[in-house]
Order: sequence, then structure tokens, then C-alpha cells
Amino acid sequence: MLPALLDPLGRKINYLRVSLTDQCNERCLYCRPAAYHGWSPQPDHLSTPELIQVITAATRLGFEHIRLTGGEPLLRPDLLEITRSLRTLPHLTSLSLSTNGTRLAPIARQLQQAGIQSINLSLDALQPELYRKITGGSFDDFFAGFRAALDAGFTQIKINCVLLRGMNQQELRPLVHFAAEHHVPIRFIELMPLTLSPQNGQDLFLSIQDAQEFLGGSETLIPKPDYSGGQGPARYFEDKVSGAIVGFIGALTTPDFCASCNKIRLTADGKLRPCLGRHGEIDLRNALRQGSHTPEELLREAIANKPKDHEFSTGYEPSRPMTALGG
Ligand code: 5AD
Ligand code: SF4
Repeated sequence: MLPALLDPLGRKINYLRVSLTDQCNERCLYCRPAAYHGWSPQPDHLSTPELIQVITAATRLGFEHIRLTGGEPLLRPDLLEITRSLRTLPHLTSLSLSTNGTRLAPIARQLQQAGIQSINLSLDALQPELYRKITGGSFDDFFAGFRAALDAGFTQIKINCVLLRGMNQQELRPLVHFAAEHHVPIRFIELMPLTLSPQNGQDLFLSIQDAQEFLGGSETLIPKPDYSGGQGPARYFEDKVSGAIVGFIGALTTPDFCASCNKIRLTADGKLRPCLGRHGEIDLRNALRQGSHTPEELLREAIANKPKDHEFSTGYEPSRPMTALGG
């Protein structure tokens, strides 16, 4: 065991989320507007050796959990190569992937064999028309990817659903049953103001408290305080009706949401981002390419600069979409 990495508030930082590309084949209305064309040019992305160098340094410092994300990480052609290089790192406890699932079917088994242990899949609706309205993509493609993931032998698969008032609240109960039927946990996530899209206004916001009421409240949802569903900030319940494990991530309404934050993000264009909900970033890519700093120094700087909390409720103005930041 390495000594714990502590930020100025004493939080243990051991989780690095790495965006492999800012590109995505979907256009979820809460993540990136359809008209977004601000993709980073390819040379701005960290190369495979650079990524491996930084992640290796991170695990030497004390980061134990690595999640590969995007954009859509399956769009990165060297995803399997990156995964294979990471799986053997000493001190790594978990290697996981977040994906929209729509391109997962042909590659799920290879990803598992390459060393991905767990997968989070986004699913905001079961009705195909609504799925398309929210994401621009196809539910059938999602389902093929999900089935392939179930068959591929991952240690854990989770479903993530962003709560959208007036759009998917009628879907919450069916989604919970879908999760139960396939024996995977589902997490409901409060919408964070992360895009410049006008559709992302307050009128779409649905709190986790309201979602819990839709699902039957405390009559139906039994707290599972000891359930450990991974490294994230979800609070888990068991749904009495279906038996599903249901998590809630309330970044906006949970008091002290940030008190247990354990992560740092690395954006596809090589910026270390201590907090999703604050603009501060450290330009790792240029420092690395100029040889002015080691990745260890920059990671330590990111931890030292980790703010107490996000600014989502106090006027955070997104400057680039979630897809650029690493979901
Ligand atoms: N608010 C909340 N969750 C979001 N995600 C993407 N954008 C947002 C947002 N604005 C979620 C996706 C995915 C995960 C990586 O992040 O649904 O499940
Ligand atoms: Fe793509 Fe995920 Fe963003 Fe949707 S939430 S546009 S699937 S990166």
C-alpha cells in the first residue's frame, strides 16, 4: 500500500478519470449540443505513450482506481492497446470504462480480456423514440452493447441515467425494472449544468428527492448504506418492488456532496481538472511536452488545488461541454 494522497481538506484522492477522446457518436442534450463542432484536433489529444506515462505516474503516487471515459471512449482506435498496457500496473485496484454502449457489442469481450473490469453504461430511456430524442442514438444499438457486456464476464456493470424532468420521469419505474431483470444496479444522476445548450436549463432539472418520490419514496426504497457500488458518490437503496439496487447521485441537492470527493480528471486534451464544477485546469500536456514538469508534480499540483466544492449552485457557467471534460 502506498501512503494516501490527501488534498488540503484531508480528502483521500485515489481515483483518476481519464477522457480518451472528446468525440462522441451521440449528442445527449445534457452533454453536448447537436451543433457542437469544437472537437480538439487530434494532436491536442494525449498520445497513447503519453497517456500510459501519466497513468503509470498516477498509480505510483497512489491513484488506485482508473476509469476510461470520453466523449465516447470506444471511438479511440487504440483503446484495447491502452487497456492492455494499464492492466499490469502495480497498485491498480480497478480499471473501468464508461460508455454509451452503442458501439460496445463487437468489442465487449475483447475489452474484458484486455483488462477492463467494470463498465458503466448510459441509459436515459427505454422507449426507442425517447432514447433517440435524448441521445440522438438507437436503443437497439445500446441494447446489443448491453447484452454483449452481460455476456462478456465483467466484474460489474452499472447503468447510469440522467434525471430529466418532463422527459424521462415516466421511465424511472420501467428503468428500475429493466435493471432488476438484468441483475445490474442503476444510478439516477441529477442534471449538472455542463453544456452551453439552452435545453440544459433549470426546467429539465429533476432532483433525486423527486425521483425517489416517483419511485414510491421510503415505503419502497430501503437504504443500503453498506452497499459499495464502486468509487463514486452514489447513495444506494434496494427497491422493494423489483429487488433492484438503485443509486442516487445528487450533485446539486446533497449537502456536503463534495466532502467525500476522491477524484481528479484528465481531459482528452491533457488538462488536469481538479473539479468538474469549477473551471480551474492544469495544462499537463504542454508541461509534459516541454519537459518542464513531471506528471507526478502536476498530479500533486492538481490535488493541492482541489477546491472544497463545485459551483453548480452558485453560478457555474459552462465554457466547454461535458464531452470535452470527461464524463
Ligand atoms: N449532468 C449529469 N450527468 C451527466 N452525464 C453527462 N452529462 C451530464 C450532465 N450534464 C453523465 C452521462 C454518463 C456519465 C458519464 O455522465 O449520462 O452516464
Ligand atoms: Fe456522448 Fe456520453 Fe456525452 Fe451522451 S453523455 S453525448 S453518450 S459523451
